Amino acid sequence: MKKIPVWIDTDTGVDDAVALIVASTLPEMDIVGVSAVAGNTSLENAFRNARDVLSLVGRKDVKVYPGADKPLIIDLFTAEKVHGSNGLGGAIIPLSDAPIETEKAWDALYEKAKEYKGELVVCPVGPLTNIATCIIKHPDVVDYIKELNIMGGAAIGGNVTSCAEFNIFVDPQAAETVFRSGIKVNLFPLDVTIKAYLDDDDIAEISSYGNKVSDLFRDSNDLLYKAQERMSRSGLCEHDSCPILYTVHPEWFEGHECGIFVETQGTITFGKTVTDLWTDFKFEDRHCRIYLDINRESFANRIKEAYRSF
Ligand code: RIB
Ligand code: CA
Repeated sequence: MKKIPVWIDTDTGVDDAVALIVASTLPEMDIVGVSAVAGNTSLENAFRNARDVLSLVGRKDVKVYPGADKPLIIDLFTAEKVHGSNGLGGAIIPLSDAPIETEKAWDALYEKAKEYKGELVVCPVGPLTNIATCIIKHPDVVDYIKELNIMGGAAIGGNVTSCAEFNIFVDPQAAETVFRSGIKVNLFPLDVTIKAYLDDDDIAEISSYGNKVSDLFRDSNDLLYKAQERMSRSGLCEHDSCPILYTVHPEWFEGHECGIFVETQGTITFGKTVTDLWTDFKFEDRHCRIYLDINRESFANRIKEAYRSF
């Protein structure tokens, strides 16, 4: 089977950790690089957490590169209330002893995209600062990235404000740079990721597996669970696993072609993703598919299978 080469860009919080763990178990996927970006937590935490989670699952071979420690223009806004002060909900795992990469994320991503000659799939699951910086510094990267499978945005509502989702809200200028770059985007907004949840039975089952990886799941999700309860949402939304599992199981998702614009001005609507779905008013040259529905049972079962495998 020809594996799909994938690069994951992450602000390694608790649902990012689930996404990295699930990705590491997918036989169809070849994780050819990971980059860290500030978002849920500081760059230092995101970088360390990505390294340590990959080491925990036996994947110290996957290189992790440091990226941006703040958004392109505005100040960093983090989410300790959801991801804890260390980014993993307070859970502690062994430090990785893999060599520490110093090449910047956007340079390493550019080189990898050229190496894979248009076949590289990139899964950003944090603010888009690294991806935008890569596009700005290496404009021809748009010729080499096959597609961006992005967790971010919301056609309806938000989780930071009533209009904006966290990954976009943290760096809307970066998001707008990415959406107008011409690279094909598959977007997984809150509209679908709130349907991509693990219910209480799923959570209890994974927490009962008794291996070191499922113990991380058990010990890191309390704050996220409580945040979901505050937003009257079911279970644990595994936002960042959506782009990952779409990459190997697109049949589990339903989407629509549309253009995406990001509001980078204003107050109430700052960071809002605006789609041209179901209108004659189309945004020019913004090639995107927005995914709004998911086969939750298949999604949840594949996550449980991943955690059982350790
Ligand atoms: O809004 C959800 C997104 O914000 C997820 O990527 C989560 O990890 C946070 O970064
Ligand atoms: Ca994330």
